[in-house]
Amino acid sequence: MTIKIGLLGFGTVASGIPFLLTENGEKIEAAAHSDLEIAKVLVKDDDEKNRLLAAGNNYNFVTNVDEILGDADIDIVVELMGRIEPARTFITKALEAGKNVVSANKDLIATHGKELISLAQDKGVAFYYEAAVAGGIPILRTLANSLTSDKVTRILGVLNGTSNFMMTKMVDEGWTYEAALKTAQELGYAESDPTNDVEGIDAAYKAVILSQFGFGMTIDFDDVAHKGISNITPDDVTVAQELGYVIKLVGDVQEVASGLSAEVSPTFLPKEHPLASVNGVMNAVFVESIGIGESMYYGPGAGQKPTATSVVADIVRIARRLNDGNIGKPFNEFSRPTQLAQPDDIKAKYYFALSVPDRKGQILRLAEIFNAEDVSFEQVLQQKANGTTARVVIITHELSKTQLANITEKLQAQVDFDLLNSFKVLGE
Ligand code: HSE
Repeated sequence: MTIKIGLLGFGTVASGIPFLLTENGEKIEAAAHSDLEIAKVLVKDDDEKNRLLAAGNNYNFVTNVDEILGDADIDIVVELMGRIEPARTFITKALEAGKNVVSANKDLIATHGKELISLAQDKGVAFYYEAAVAGGIPILRTLANSLTSDKVTRILGVLNGTSNFMMTKMVDEGWTYEAALKTAQELGYAESDPTNDVEGIDAAYKAVILSQFGFGMTIDFDDVAHKGISNITPDDVTVAQELGYVIKLVGDVQEVASGLSAEVSPTFLPKEHPLASVNGVMNAVFVESIGIGESMYYGPGAGQKPTATSVVADIVRIARRLNDGNIGKPFNEFSRPTQLAQPDDIKAKYYFALSVPDRKGQILRLAEIFNAEDVSFEQVLQQKANGTTARVVIITHELSKTQLANITEKLQAQVDFDLLNSFKVLGE
């Protein structure tokens, strides 16, 4: 039996699928209990079709999605267009037409996943999206299946390959921000609009999806605070190194007494933390749980073949279920009411970098502000900046989001203080 696939889009990831179907055909066929065939490929227009044909891609390219959605022989629609529209409309129509859908579209799943998952359920079809989080790392299926007996308490992740690649090049090899971004784009790591990568938005989408699989809660994208890498300065990187930390863009989803908290922010990781050595385009998901304790899942988070590998794994799983007659089981069955954590209950240590006048009494003023909020210093460092100002770096003991907001507001209200940056610090 042959299972036919309709591809929506033929960009970086999609063009990696034929490689796997050819090079690993025997194993895929044995697992799927079928042959898999790319029957049709949707492209934007005739220009794109002609360009792809001229480049030697021998597929049945179509420019109207209805040629795929209306084709009764196509069982699986694979959406690899990215962004919200028209992907959302096409997936909705595909599910309504009773087709099984595979997608790598974290933007869409993080913002409209609920409606699509429920539509797939109503129609009794599969909607799988392993590649949406951490590209080549099979983290969603691991959380849904292998960790089913465990209770996850926190997920920390280096979830954006582009920004991690950029930070690694900038810190280790002195590349400029622009050069690092350009290379990440050339290597096919970055989103079509790289703002999502560097501003923490892409990682926040992934945090939303991880919260569903790890904690059974569907948090809204708007409830995931996100801050990117563009405001990290060379001074922050140097101080981090001096104090024994590495700065990485980290997604952090944790369950505290009052509920779930999720955020993405540049984070000081102690050098010995397993996430601190995740470099380049590599991603890692560090899971804390009551059973296993600590486990980390590591691999390429972007790129053609790694992401295509996760996409094809979903296709194979669907083909197998079609053959076994048990299609329609949700990708993730863990679901419970969503409850967000209270700001008072979300605690971490923080790094503050400030520029202050270089004259007596300034450390005392800072101490008074932190003391008024009942927050104590763990480390304080003062460096001469120029003739009139000094740079002060403070690492605090644990404080809550409420205390963080109050301290930030008070620091910003001091006309002669300049709050340069504040980042979360991981560790005891
Ligand atoms: N732009 C994403 C990244 C691709 O850099 O991680 C994978 O989602």
